[in-house]
Amino acid sequence: MRIAVFGATGRVGTRLIKEALARGYSVAAYARSPQKIAVVHPKLLIVQGGLEDKDKIEEAVKGADVVVSVMGPVGRQDKLIFSPAYESIVQAMKKHGVKRIIALGTPTIPDDNDGFSLIFWSLIVVVGFIIRKGHEDIRTVGTILRKSGLDWTLVRVPLLTNGRKRGRVTVGYFGNGVEWPWVSRADFVDFLLEQLTSNTYIGKAPAISN
Ligand SMILES: NC(=O)c1ccc[n+]([C@@H]2O[C@H](COP(=O)([O-])OP(=O)(O)OC[C@H]3O[C@@H](n4cnc5c(N)ncnc54)[C@H](OP(=O)(O)O)[C@@H]3O)[C@@H](O)[C@H]2O)c1
Repeated sequence: MRIAVFGATGRVGTRLIKEALARGYSVAAYARSPQKIAVVHPKLLIVQGGLEDKDKIEEAVKGADVVVSVMGPVGRQDKLIFSPAYESIVQAMKKHGVKRIIALGTPTIPDDNDGFSLIFWSLIVVVGFIIRKGHEDIRTVGTILRKSGLDWTLVRVPLLTNGRKRGRVTVGYFGNGVEWPWVSRADFVDFLLEQLTSNTYIGKAPAISN
């Protein structure tokens, strides 16, 4: 199975690539700064490009069985960056017959199954205040995937930590089964990789925490 990874240079992305290769998957890693990927492996293809570069995005998606995206806003931004990139990814997937996409989401993306939680409500308000445009961007990503017609899964994470791998996560919805606002990057990556061979969360946006 070949996985096209977006956000490949990040803390989650780097771990994801290493773990996927260790499990025998082939990886096409998309990166604007490929020198950040300190991994050399016969099953690793690196495609260099920016998020506005539709042809390069298509090059990474073509030939993949699954797209896994763990990119997202890291600070203030003055325009939409990620939602247009997701439009390009979805377009490329449809063109090349790639059906499955598993993407990072956050509490900012609402889901009908969420309950009320003061912790997550506060998190959304604070993050929304700090990265206003990023907030709109990530919400739009949710809408794009839901309307895509693809086999999508949005894995919505609270705060990410570098904590140790516990080997299990709580899966549910924010304020409805998931109350703890942290998950380790290690357990998040494990959960993402589990979705490669599972249909359980197709068309769903579960939340996870430790
Ligand atoms: N930190 C948290 O607690 C938390 C909580 C929930 C969700 N998130 C989201 O989770 C994502 C992944 O987490 P992480 O720890 O792996 O973050 P990270 O280490 O900061 O990695 C972010 C990734 O997104 C890419 N990216 C960011 N802005 C970009 C742009 N304008 N164009 C192209 N690529 C861009 C980065 O590429 P470059 O290496 O080229 O910059 C990198 O690959 C974050 O982006 C954030 O949105 C974080």
